[in-house]
Amino acid sequence: MVWLILTVVFTIGAFVSFFYNFWVLGIIFVLLNISLLWTWKLGAAWDPTPMEVIEKILDYLNPKQSDVVYDLGCGDGRFIIEASRRYGCRAVGIEIDPLRYFITLLRVKLLHLDDKVKVVWANFFNYPLNDATIVFCFLTEEANRKLEIKFSKELSYGTFIVSYLWRFYGFNLVNVIDDKIFFYLV
Ligand SMILES: C[S@@+](CC[C@H](N)C(=O)[O-])C[C@H]1O[C@@H](n2cnc3c(N)ncnc32)[C@H](O)[C@@H]1O
Repeated sequence: MVWLILTVVFTIGAFVSFFYNFWVLGIIFVLLNISLLWTWKLGAAWDPTPMEVIEKILDYLNPKQSDVVYDLGCGDGRFIIEASRRYGCRAVGIEIDPLRYFITLLRVKLLHLDDKVKVVWANFFNYPLNDATIVFCFLTEEANRKLEIKFSKELSYGTFIVSYLWRFYGFNLVNVIDDKIFFYLV
């Protein structure tokens, strides 16, 4: 939903800026809109998971320091940062959009989490997930369907998959919170 609000705000911002001849500002609004939406067909557009949802997920999973938590399409890094800060676990965020990748990288550096949190600028479909013990996704139904094949090949027995809003069908559903957070065990 946030993506829709931001798209409307950036579009109006661009129109108003061009109307009053603020060309640079107008171009910035257009670029922000492109950055928000261009990843739609690659997995999902940007839409941040609410922090209270992240807290519910982490409360349920209670990651150990030995866990390796992945966020496929980590956006601004909120999930991996929260997991590592609160539980001391290792975390990997994969993000294809350069702006969000740099925002996450900056946040990780400013919070001195570099030794625990790795941020990767890549397409998660091409990134190996073999060391993951927890995988979080907030994507789309189509992306989840494509990921099922990858997960079956790369994830080890006992790995948790958590999906916000969209289900997986090929894995063992072990818990559902608020009808929108789905937990699976490989
Ligand atoms: C719905 S947002 C979720 C962001 C973040 N996981 C969160 O929970 O706040 C999806 C994110 O996945 C990224 N993304 C989409 N397809 C991707 C792909 N194939 N590889 C890497 N990142 C991708 C988008 O750029 C976007 O930031």
